[in-house]
Amino acid sequence: MTTTQPKLIVALDVPDLARANELVEMLTPLGVWFKVGYEALFGYGDALRAKLESHDANVFLDAKLHDIPRTVEAAIHALVRPGVRILTVHAIGGNDMLVAAVDSARARATELGIDIPQIFAVTILTSIAPESLRELGLLGGPGENVMRLAALARDARCAGVVCSANEVADLKSYFGHDFAALCPGIRPGGSAHGDQKRVATPQAAIAAGADYLVVGRPIVEAADPVAAARAILAEMEGAVHAR
Ligand code: C5P
Repeated sequence: MTTTQPKLIVALDVPDLARANELVEMLTPLGVWFKVGYEALFGYGDALRAKLESHDANVFLDAKLHDIPRTVEAAIHALVRPGVRILTVHAIGGNDMLVAAVDSARARATELGIDIPQIFAVTILTSIAPESLRELGLLGGPGENVMRLAALARDARCAGVVCSANEVADLKSYFGHDFAALCPGIRPGGSAHGDQKRVATPQAAIAAGADYLVVGRPIVEAADPVAAARAILAEMEGAVHAR
């Protein structure tokens, strides 16, 4: 039983600022967080940041950094802003890079006098099918790889990892409930999987112990994004009470 209420994070994966702004306006009243990823960050990041800050939004900045420690440290320094609650780096960047990210987030937030963003490590992308791991030279199944990379992240003092909902139960039993799980690849019953391979319903992800669910297309491409988000929130709420 986790003590904090799991959060729904809506991925603002849309091609233009006008649509992202509309989604922020529509969905902020529901209390959701927003994910800013490559598409928004590189396309119209500065303008979107102003919009999110004006709404006091909670932001998951999915920068997925992976470079030498000094470069990652500098990138984190530039990305820490008010409202940025979670920042991502790839666990496969190794211990020194992960430590540099964690230290840089703390140092920059302290300098700015704001809350320290949590660093989450991406383990194995949810678009990677088990049979593709071998092509990458990674031995074992997704579960073993996620646990190995999660141990690296935990040792570097990351707050948690990004993983598929299918790995959360094992993650929590190895590392305890305080090590957070943020899960993309969430698909309400009946919605298209797109490029995601290791998927789960909101209910299954919460039942497994996920702390954050990231949902993009099932909300941002829905005819009624507010109704789609509300339905997922209701499903999450029901699953929290049941666990
Ligand atoms: O549209 P969909 O719900 O598949 O969006 C999932 C979001 O989560 C995307 O923004 C994607 O970049 C992100 N993500 C992911 N797998 C990871 C980490 C992040 O799908 N391992």
